[in-house]
Amino acid sequence: MIYIGNINYSRKREGGLVCPVSIMHSVAVIVFAATYFTWTSAVFHTQRQVVHKKLRYLLEPPVYAEVTARRGANVTLPCLLQTKPPRYKVKWTKLEPLRRGVENIVLITNGQAQKGYGLLGPRASLRRAHPLDASLRINNLELGDDGRYRCELINGIDDESVFLTLRIEGVVFPYQSTNGRYKFNLQEASEACHGQDATLATYKQLYRAWTEGLDWCNAGWLNDGTVHYPILKPRAQCGGEKFRPGIRSYGPKDKIRDYFDAFCFTSITAGYVFFIGGHLTFAEALEVCREKGAELARVGQLYSAWHFRGLDRCDGGWLYDGSVRFPITTPRERCGGLSDPGVRTFGFPNKTQRLYGAYCYR
Ligand SMILES: *[C@@H]1O[C@H](CO)[C@@H](O)[C@H](O)[C@H]1NC(C)=O
Ligand SMILES: *[C@@H]1O[C@H](CO)[C@@H](O)[C@H](O)[C@H]1NC(C)=O
Repeated sequence: MIYIGNINYSRKREGGLVCPVSIMHSVAVIVFAATYFTWTSAVFHTQRQVVHKKLRYLLEPPVYAEVTARRGANVTLPCLLQTKPPRYKVKWTKLEPLRRGVENIVLITNGQAQKGYGLLGPRASLRRAHPLDASLRINNLELGDDGRYRCELINGIDDESVFLTLRIEGVVFPYQSTNGRYKFNLQEASEACHGQDATLATYKQLYRAWTEGLDWCNAGWLNDGTVHYPILKPRAQCGGEKFRPGIRSYGPKDKIRDYFDAFCFTSITAGYVFFIGGHLTFAEALEVCREKGAELARVGQLYSAWHFRGLDRCDGGWLYDGSVRFPITTPRERCGGLSDPGVRTFGFPNKTQRLYGAYCYR
């Protein structure tokens, strides 16, 4: 799905959230897109080959060692033994995103008993489809489960591992503070995403969103404390025309003292977003949703409805954070004028204005 730009240019906007905003930082802007990924996969490939030589007990994972699912689903990360050593343990670990100084163990089994650990533990179990099956099941997937996992066979002599990636299917959206552009440090950016039913995106998630059409001219935090922005159509006011399209990087920034926007990531939701028309103030919008047994939608819920359920609505509506947006999957002239699908925004209008309806979530 393609989406470019979130701003409806056809109406007058209030406040300071005008985009494209020129990014004229003195910091050198480095472009790395394709080359970066070639490098990453090369490393991965080498690892796989090394692993391949050593494997005696575990089966080589499938060629594409990636499992893809949506939030709320149950998944299995395959890990099979070829033969059983007399005594062994299998240890499942989540390798990424890293929690510094902590080995993020998910589950350990000795072939009979199993024990779950950490945040994932309560939702993790072994599939045990047959005696050589050490595959990991994770129930009710959460956004943070995305990442790389290791299945490690430990028998005290030739320990060996296979690596698998769990990818949560979802959508990345840029998020700006009510107070304007570049107002979040890393912690605040993370909290802002959580407040919108999302998490801070990973680099891989931003990269994928860029390949799917995300072009955004403001820099935002990613969950590893780096700052980037994705550009498909190089232009003077977005870091210059002489660079190729790509993910522009500011690299790691000061997590406490540097301020940017956020790139949030969300996936499908259990509930639905629906629109209620009218000329409502923000307070009235809160109330009409409540009357329907719902709440004003979070920004992530609106993006999710747009991305996964094709929500298309040409009416601006209040959201829970006080912003006004509308989702377009079939672009048309009289609907903001932009040629690409996207969630358009009017920023954060004066809450006493009576120009908009409400997007509710239930
Ligand atoms: C996931 O597994 C649990 C427990 O087996 C089950 O109750 C639930 O319905 C499953 N969820 C989905 C989405 O299949
Ligand atoms: C919002 O609009 C009302 C009425 O026009 C005005 O009194 C109020 O000062 C405005 N609030 C802000 C924050 O601009």
